[in-house]
Amino acid sequence: MSKSLISIRDFSKEEILHVLEAAKGFEQDRSRKILDGKVVGSLFFEPSTRTRLSFETAVNRLGARVIGFSDASNTSVSKGETLKDTIKMVSNYVDLIVMRHPLEGSSRYASEVSPVPVVNAGDGANQHPSQTLLDLYTIMQTQGRLDGLTINMVGDLKYGRTTHSLLQAMSHFNPTFIFTSPEELKMPSEYKDFLDRKGIRYIETDSLEEHLNNCDILYMTRVQQERFTDPMEYEKVKDVYRLSASMLGGVKPNMKILHPLPRVGEIDQDVDDTPYAYYFKQAENGLYVRMAIISYLLEYDTNR
Ligand code: CP
Repeated sequence: MSKSLISIRDFSKEEILHVLEAAKGFEQDRSRKILDGKVVGSLFFEPSTRTRLSFETAVNRLGARVIGFSDASNTSVSKGETLKDTIKMVSNYVDLIVMRHPLEGSSRYASEVSPVPVVNAGDGANQHPSQTLLDLYTIMQTQGRLDGLTINMVGDLKYGRTTHSLLQAMSHFNPTFIFTSPEELKMPSEYKDFLDRKGIRYIETDSLEEHLNNCDILYMTRVQQERFTDPMEYEKVKDVYRLSASMLGGVKPNMKILHPLPRVGEIDQDVDDTPYAYYFKQAENGLYVRMAIISYLLEYDTNR
């Protein structure tokens, strides 16, 4: 069976570092037609801007071609075709599948029925491993290291799949975590149990101000409206945090603010002009990292 990227735990520490190194090469040289003749399926059952467009740009810059859809209502899914049949069909046409789907576990299932590699581009509130690799790349780029950093994750830690994947990836690098969230959106216990088993330190707070000045990375997240079953619950927490430039007076000089984006109000636009804002460069890095992921899974040795 070919290697897929469904959870960040599918990659060893060595594989993670290999992909980050390859991404550095792609940042220096953005158009390398090393995958001429390959075809990638881009199957987005859920909305996306960055992930889909950066994956598709990565495919084009590698010299391969893309087929796919960004709206499943235009496909035979709307006639009742199952995910299994859809994946079996598409995998006959392509060399690799990138898939986003609202159901947790759907990408793992797709990888089990597909003979070609599958990249999970987000499955419900579960995992978003390509985002994690670009987050790691960005942390390395801004801090010069991954080891021994304090990461403050803020916002929707319950449904925020990017925080779940990032927490697991950073566990290789001796981090300290601060989990800043309201009671309703706390980090799920399965992830805290994971940290406990690994002996990794974390603290929980509901105050954004409390730990702003002692973190290296402030990882802001959006409250995920689409994951709430009760709209009243969303209304209660949607505006819980709002970071503004005036709050950044005492932060560490090396501190950088990351956000997987889109943002919907949790970071004021005046933060964009501070030296701490790094989220747009983070999104750009997605291109280089996704070029590296695709090359790695298609077994193209970027070092040759
Ligand atoms: N970060 C991220 O997954 O963004 P999109 O939803 O726009 O792909």
